[in-house]
Amino acid sequence: MQKMIPVKINGKDYEVPEGCNIVEACDAHQIPLERFCYHRYLPVDGNCRTCMVEIETPRGRMLTIGCNTKVQPDMVIYTNSENAVRAQKASLEFLLLDHPLDCPICDKAGECYLQDNYYNFGRYDFRRIVPRYFKGGKALDAGDHIVLDQERCILCTRCIRFLDNISGTSELGIIHRGHESKITTFPGKPIKNDYSGNITDICPVGALTLKEFRFKQRVWFLKKTPSICTKCARGCSITVEHNFGKVWRFMPKENPYLNRVWICDKGRFSFGELNSNRIWNPLHHQQEIDFNQLTIEIENILNMYNWNEIAWLVGPYSSNETLYILKSFGDQVYAWIPPATGKKDDILMLSEEYPNEQGIRYFGISNDLNSLLQKIDSGTIKVIFILESDLYKFKNDPTTKSLIDKIQNLSVALYFTSYRDETSKHANYVIPIRNYVETNGTFINATSILQRAEQAYEPENQDVGSLSILLNQIAFYLNRTQKRYFDPSEIYNDFRLEHEELKEYTFNSIPEYGVQLKFPKIAEEPFKNKKVDFNVFMLSKKHFIAKEHKQ
Ligand code: SF4
Ligand code: SF4
Ligand code: FES
Repeated sequence: MQKMIPVKINGKDYEVPEGCNIVEACDAHQIPLERFCYHRYLPVDGNCRTCMVEIETPRGRMLTIGCNTKVQPDMVIYTNSENAVRAQKASLEFLLLDHPLDCPICDKAGECYLQDNYYNFGRYDFRRIVPRYFKGGKALDAGDHIVLDQERCILCTRCIRFLDNISGTSELGIIHRGHESKITTFPGKPIKNDYSGNITDICPVGALTLKEFRFKQRVWFLKKTPSICTKCARGCSITVEHNFGKVWRFMPKENPYLNRVWICDKGRFSFGELNSNRIWNPLHHQQEIDFNQLTIEIENILNMYNWNEIAWLVGPYSSNETLYILKSFGDQVYAWIPPATGKKDDILMLSEEYPNEQGIRYFGISNDLNSLLQKIDSGTIKVIFILESDLYKFKNDPTTKSLIDKIQNLSVALYFTSYRDETSKHANYVIPIRNYVETNGTFINATSILQRAEQAYEPENQDVGSLSILLNQIAFYLNRTQKRYFDPSEIYNDFRLEHEELKEYTFNSIPEYGVQLKFPKIAEEPFKNKKVDFNVFMLSKKHFIAKEHKQ
């Protein structure tokens, strides 16, 4: 239990967590206080001087910076006294003195601290009488993903502290002295690490921007949907930013229990896959057919073969809702887990490049592929439905290869997929489905946190359904269930009742940081390399007002 201490801020009494600094104490009670260089997941540097407050001391009131001043019991703090406000404004004016003010062509406009802080705290008249000093270059290529505009930089060192303390790669530094100081990479060492995109999120101004996002969209046009990254079993919390049915970027979503506010570049830039190689109409032997014809043909197949002649092969890419429906399909459901070949590190990344292996365990889906192979060999299984699993991508894996070989001998192979991938070229029928941002779903990550991925938008072809709903329709058609679902969230709302730890959470009330299940973890907690930890009081939701401030 976090110990609380009494303080007085702007004449009012509050309790704040012991050990926090004045910026964090203000955040805990939503008292506005300007800041640039402070970042709650990085070490304090105290260089921008914008978080000036007054505190009472035995020698009278004195000005100090809030981010580097720990709160003491009975401390008396003023964020809005005349002196404090004058000091805050002066620091801000100093930072804006040489700023190029190219907001109309700056990608950060709309989410820029300089803009926000000027409107919230500055509002002074421009006093400069000598020409602006432009420090450094514009649109410099600083690495695979990063563009550096040196003249926009306010030298807050957030990027440097990230590269020193989180990625551990230290590619950026400050050169020269005084007003000539500028941020730059070391000669011959561009920004090249697996987490480089994060520095563009935390840069409070438009000095660091992403090549992949520059000039693509104005941020105020983007809608934001909470979701997860599916590129590895860590399942980082993200926000899907989209408009007009297209995803423009993935941004990390704060989750102190999981990815804090960071994501890796592999996950960040995977949004492009969502928009490409889509299948919008069913295929029969690679020829497009319409949905009516598909329905008739699937009905024929289901009527022609006994239930126990049909197998269902699901991978660790499907949501819990799909797995729950499959659970009621009986013994013919098999899980295929591809080899874990991805890069692993002691920050976030895991080698299992799929989001829901834990779901397969949680719902007890069998992964005894030998039994499936034997049943195919003996002729017991004649038809297979392959669900969201691109087997051919792993055709060099011996187990997957023997599975592919056997499936080729079956009478019919039907493939549910969102994408035109290798496996779609080999199936007799390809049935298009929504991808995970086009539908609702839940996933369980490697450390057993169940999270919600919300539907961001309707797909281009609205005849395309969600996999779990299509499977429910099949079960209903064959009288294997009397229950009809129309949205995966309804499926979640049913299966949560069977799990004590989920009972209290409906789909819409799943906490924003997920639910920690009492279920064995298959990976260590993230940030094993950590050189910096955030204050433990951050974990107290009551005092953690994350949404009130940007990162
Ligand atoms: S580039 Fe951005 S994050 Fe880095 S020091 Fe400059 S303003 Fe701060
Ligand atoms: S660590 Fe894994 S889940 Fe997190 S962003 Fe990277 S690929 Fe996605
Ligand atoms: S935020 Fe406190 S000195 Fe920069």
